[in-house]
Amino acid sequence: MIATPYLIGALDIGSTKTCAVIGELILEGDGPAQVKVLGVGQVKPSGIRRDAVSNIEETTEEIRQALKQAELMAGMQPRGLYVGISAEYVQTSTSNGVVAIGGDEISEDDVERVHEVARAVVVPPDKELLHVIPQDYSVDHRGGIQQPAGMIGTRLEADVFMVLGSGAAARNLRKAVARAGYEVAQLVLTPLAAGLSVLTTEEREVGAAVVAIGGRTTEIAIFHEGKIRHVALVPCGGVSFTNDLVKGLGIPYAEAERVKERHGVATIQLVDPEQSIEVPGPAPGARKHMPRELLAHIIEQRMDEVLTLVLHEIDRAGYAHRLGGGVVLTGGGASLEGTLDVAQSIFTMPVRCGAPGAGLTGLADSVRRPKFATAAGLMLFGVGRIREDLSNGRGTTLRALSKVGGWLKEFF
Ligand SMILES: Nc1ncnc2c1ncn2[C@@H]1O[C@H](COP(=O)(O)OP(=O)(O)OP(=O)(O)O)[C@@H](O)[C@H]1O
Ligand SMILES: [Mg+2]
Repeated sequence: MIATPYLIGALDIGSTKTCAVIGELILEGDGPAQVKVLGVGQVKPSGIRRDAVSNIEETTEEIRQALKQAELMAGMQPRGLYVGISAEYVQTSTSNGVVAIGGDEISEDDVERVHEVARAVVVPPDKELLHVIPQDYSVDHRGGIQQPAGMIGTRLEADVFMVLGSGAAARNLRKAVARAGYEVAQLVLTPLAAGLSVLTTEEREVGAAVVAIGGRTTEIAIFHEGKIRHVALVPCGGVSFTNDLVKGLGIPYAEAERVKERHGVATIQLVDPEQSIEVPGPAPGARKHMPRELLAHIIEQRMDEVLTLVLHEIDRAGYAHRLGGGVVLTGGGASLEGTLDVAQSIFTMPVRCGAPGAGLTGLADSVRRPKFATAAGLMLFGVGRIREDLSNGRGTTLRALSKVGGWLKEFF
């Protein structure tokens, strides 16, 4: 049997790096589908981006470079890209719809009809509908149904989770991607993507929160019964740790970043009190020694604050006692040694650190780092999309619609 290749391009424009991943969905006969990572590219902007879409020129150049690197590795060029849009630029809400069932049995068309009714809310002119994710269905007032098609009933109701993006952010992302010579297959909410790449199917089922500690922000997505249920954002991340070190140690930003990545640890408990680190001194070219405990103390304070804010968000959403799968930390900021120790002292639920890799073959090792959680997840989103199109047998129509944004059927 000849393998059928489907190429997927993913693009994550973060506040501290732009990352592209190229992957391929491989379907062999009736066997399980495989996702093969073919190439990865990463470009760091010159400074910290205050806003992921504010400087189109610079962003365009980073997109070009990141994709060039990934394409060189892959030996292939994707056309449409699954591009991340940060939780910073979206609003989520739930909506519901009801339809009457003509025949005895609920058909796929009835399910589509109820989605259409549920999504028929007014989208303000400055917003764009990015995702409409069916949550649960009720048939003749019996709720909690996941797959209504084929059931007998006269009344079908659907709850949907809607993600509305800022129109300006969406336009700027598309503009930068187009200028770089690509097109956006779909804009995808970044914490949703992170949830796809680091949470297991079981965690998403029993309930889990993916917490991506990025550069400027920490994004949270809560999954329960297999579906995304809530999205939140904490306005601090890895950049906050670095800024604290700039102030606390009196050193330049680039040096603080270097010290953080090389010697940083998120709790003083893991530091030998005798240990010291070398940082630039007050005079040009001079060096001074500092206790590593001080570095750890500064980071610990902030890590504690960030994770406490995350816990408040989970609590506010009503999920503090409903996440059997607990919290999975990812994003570049979660690379700090000791992150898990701090998290364990804050969350009264299971905690682990997660990185992409599960279910990936090929050059999967190149994305097996927490900072690639979003980019890998965007690729997996694309894969899910193609598989859904194939199983619906109407790939082209669906893909065409998805470009407009907001096709109803999500793959989970
Ligand atoms: N090994 C490491 N040790 C400590 N911190 C790290 C390490 N690797 C990355 N980071 C930090 O992680 C942060 C970047 O994380 P990530 O790449 O997930 O963010 P981003 O996608 O650029 O930003 P955002 O998602 O907030 O827009 C930076 O602040 C960086 O210093
Ligand atoms: Mg990110």
